[in-house]
Amino acid sequence: MARLVVTGGAGFIGSNFVHHVVSHTDHHVTVLDKLTYAGNRRSLDGLPDDRLAFVHGDIADAPLVDELFRSADAVIHYAAESHNDNSLDDPRPFLETNIIGTYTLLEAARRHDTRFHHISTDEVYGDLELDDPQRFTESTPYNPSSPYSSTKAGSDLLVRAWVRSFGVRATISNCSNNYGPYQHVEKFIPRQITNVIRDIQPRLYGAGENVRDWIHADDHSSAVLTILEKGTIGETYLIGADGEKNNKDVVEMILQLMGRPRDAYDHVTDRAGHDMRYAIDSTKLRAELGWRPSFQDFEAGLAATIQWYRENEDWWAPTKDRVEAFYASKGQ
Ligand code: NAD
Ligand code: DAU
Repeated sequence: MARLVVTGGAGFIGSNFVHHVVSHTDHHVTVLDKLTYAGNRRSLDGLPDDRLAFVHGDIADAPLVDELFRSADAVIHYAAESHNDNSLDDPRPFLETNIIGTYTLLEAARRHDTRFHHISTDEVYGDLELDDPQRFTESTPYNPSSPYSSTKAGSDLLVRAWVRSFGVRATISNCSNNYGPYQHVEKFIPRQITNVIRDIQPRLYGAGENVRDWIHADDHSSAVLTILEKGTIGETYLIGADGEKNNKDVVEMILQLMGRPRDAYDHVTDRAGHDMRYAIDSTKLRAELGWRPSFQDFEAGLAATIQWYRENEDWWAPTKDRVEAFYASKGQ
């Protein structure tokens, strides 16, 4: 049995990873999470006490981090400020957590020679034109667009430098857009599902032609576990499930699955600097480490996600009004 520390384990993808690890391995997990507006302790409800410990704290708190690394076999680093729209409003927390926080963890990994896996995003590569036949690969040059993605790119480069300069035993993964349970209602898919539940029209930024490459959060988790077990130190792996869809098609699918007319949505003010398209080529992860996604049918995964939000209104309702007030102030 290994002792894992998962930063950001009370967030969307981190909590899905903790559930995945508890179901598929015998590892013990210690979650380190600051419980920002995006963290929810309840996302870890139901997990057995002998498999999970929860530490409420900041990844930029060096003494706390040092103590946790002392007894960890591996650290999987999910904690981040993660929302592009928030980064346009107030970039500072993105620098503090994504850059200084990651630096603090890397220094502890260096001191304790801890195996470290850094979770990152395909947004570090910028965006593609709609008709570009290329997809992102591990050798695509970094070209981030937003304050969020630029801090994630910066954190990736810190990890690479700590591997090369100090021999830190780290890997990096860059994944495409996730969907599934426990995602904050500020994000596209949960926002529209919970809008429909509340009889509010879904909101599409601009013309809705922007393409995202959707992957179920559980497939992201299985990929990270595969990299942790079989990945080569110093390497980067792209994670994706060939799920390209434009936003308009996704909104129409949500409306149809929820029994509403497919055109019952509003176009609203576009996001500043809005990336047009992301697309991942995950050949390296599949060919070298033998990983495959399990969720092949996006519509079925989306239907299950809708069902989860219908059944867990008490999980998301406390944050919904504040999120909608924030968007309304920006005409979105
Ligand atoms: P999220 O916003 O849902 O969760 C982030 C978690 O980190 C929260 O629990 C929050 O409380 C915690 N946190 C924030 N600042 C912290 C700090 N200073 N110290 C400790 N904990 C802190 O984010 P998410 O969507 O689950 O994303 C998780 C990771 O995956 C991020 O690194 C993100 O860049 C990456 N990622 C996300 C996606 C996606 O589609 N959401 C895709 C690819 C990569
Ligand atoms: O690609 C990976 C990234 O995916 C992660 O690094 C980020 O952490 C994660 O938030 C996500 O970023 P996006 O900006 O792509 O996700 P978001 O859910 O904010 O938006 C998805 C798309 O939907 C995007 O084109 C903007 C659009 N959108 C979003 C909202 C909230 C709308 O059209 N309407 C909305 O109400």
